[in-house]
Amino acid sequence: MNNLSLINKALRLCLLGFIALQANTLSAAGKAPPSLKEIKVPHVNKLKDFVSKEKEVILLGKAFFWDLQAGSDGQACASCHFRAGADLRVKNQLAPGLIRENNPDTIFQPTASFGQGGPNYTLVGDDFPFHQFNDPDDRNSGVAFTTNDTASSQGTFGGKFVSGGDDGLNDTCDNFADPVFHVGGIGVRKVEPRHTPSVINAVFNFRNFWDGRANNVFNGVDPFGLRNGNARVFEKNGATRKVDLRNSSLASQASGPPMSDFEMICTGRKFAEMGRKLIPRKPLLIQQVHPNDSVLGDKRDKDTGLGLKGTYEELIKKAFKKEWWEGTGDFDGFRQIEANFSLFWSLSIQLYQSTLISDKAPYDEFAKGKKEPFDPQDGKTDKLTAAEFRGLQVFLDKGKCINCHKGAEFSGAASVLQAENQENGLVERMIMGGGGVALYDNGFYNIGVTPTNEDVMAYLGQEDGDLAIMHRCGG
Ligand code: HEC
Ligand code: HEC
Repeated sequence: MNNLSLINKALRLCLLGFIALQANTLSAAGKAPPSLKEIKVPHVNKLKDFVSKEKEVILLGKAFFWDLQAGSDGQACASCHFRAGADLRVKNQLAPGLIRENNPDTIFQPTASFGQGGPNYTLVGDDFPFHQFNDPDDRNSGVAFTTNDTASSQGTFGGKFVSGGDDGLNDTCDNFADPVFHVGGIGVRKVEPRHTPSVINAVFNFRNFWDGRANNVFNGVDPFGLRNGNARVFEKNGATRKVDLRNSSLASQASGPPMSDFEMICTGRKFAEMGRKLIPRKPLLIQQVHPNDSVLGDKRDKDTGLGLKGTYEELIKKAFKKEWWEGTGDFDGFRQIEANFSLFWSLSIQLYQSTLISDKAPYDEFAKGKKEPFDPQDGKTDKLTAAEFRGLQVFLDKGKCINCHKGAEFSGAASVLQAENQENGLVERMIMGGGGVALYDNGFYNIGVTPTNEDVMAYLGQEDGDLAIMHRCGG
């Protein structure tokens, strides 16, 4: 058994029932975290090899993120990340236990409010939480209700890709009802197996996704970083080049949904085919753009109020260096600008999301000017109400929330902390409430929100020993 599988085993063993943790080396007990205003967006190396004008890249990224033309059947990134970067829809938002270990559950269950649940069900307040005790204050009082269904986000209908965007908005697909997501044989949109997190402040995560599978290194093509040794982008003479952009988990992440037949596409659509569809198009074709939009306002098509002036081709050419799009040869059956579409799409969405930072929360005003952990009494206490200040004290002391929700980002999975971890070791030891010691990946913890065998999208990283059955600290 090598070290990694030992760690794997240790991680699987240290499970539930310990919320009260004692201070560990990284968190200064009782100290308040700095203001997010003081934290810089992590530096992306070699960005200048690709990007010519950062402002234009952000504009392109915002258009891509919100554009309903992007998916095969009307899905944009924003379809699931539209309110505070997350999703508040309640209809058709349930998935059965699809990521359970060994035997995925494809059967939907009734809900806590005695609702029917399943496809097209509209969730109500009384359906939450999904695991309930007879007495909410006593975990030994017996389970009143539980389900392994999850509330998440609806994505695409089932279907096989045929060709791109013929009817204006959608791709042509051979549609068929998905065996799991249908009502009486009529297909509904498939629903993701995990909650949709906010994209706001996601730029501070060292790796993205609950299990960290969106790699810190972007390879130009897909979410898997250097683990995919075959990932290449095209130079203009037809040669190929490896890409390794650090601090680019958001670009790795953005390359995922356009390849996912749950989230955005009919099965089998290639990235370059998405490029072929979007490149000649008017950005945000059927969507209203607000004249005061801080990024898109100036580019708005004033005549119609819909979409932006020009085409994606023009935006890409303004934003990215010409050696990545001016080639005229044959690039695996595509134009160079199409063949490198994963690069333009993912980097521009990363740069757009890097501007989505919530550093004006009352807490950030309270901690304004503080770069290091500080005594909460030294904060600008008039910026918090008395109740908020008491809550902060519980968060820091009695609740020990700060042990996992560390730093200005309130997450131990943040880049700055993870960078320290690279030096201090990727694995941390924590003293449990019961006195024992548990071993964790830094920044990832199994807190028993769901039984472990109900969510095992675990993977074992090759280059950094990252293992994630654990969920990253929310933030
Ligand atoms: C069908 C709904 C859906 C669509 C469409 C979608 N997402 Fe997500 N997004 C999710 C879900 C669900 C997760 C969590 C998945 C997981 O962790 O396994 C997620 C995770 C993320 C995260 C990670 C945040 C974090 O804190 O870890 C980012 C960033 C993100 N999405 C951005 C995007 C972008 C950019 C696009 C478009 C390219 C997109 N999403 C399209 C549902 C969606
Ligand atoms: C052992 C580490 C740990 C401790 C201690 C801890 N948390 Fe968490 N917290 C997590 C993890 C991991 C998640 C993500 C859970 C999930 O959805 O899988 C989370 C999620 C959350 C979320 C949801 C965030 C989001 O974006 O969805 C909130 C709010 C939260 N915790 C507050 C608290 C508070 C308040 C305390 C102290 C009373 C606390 N946590 C203590 C690890 C911890």
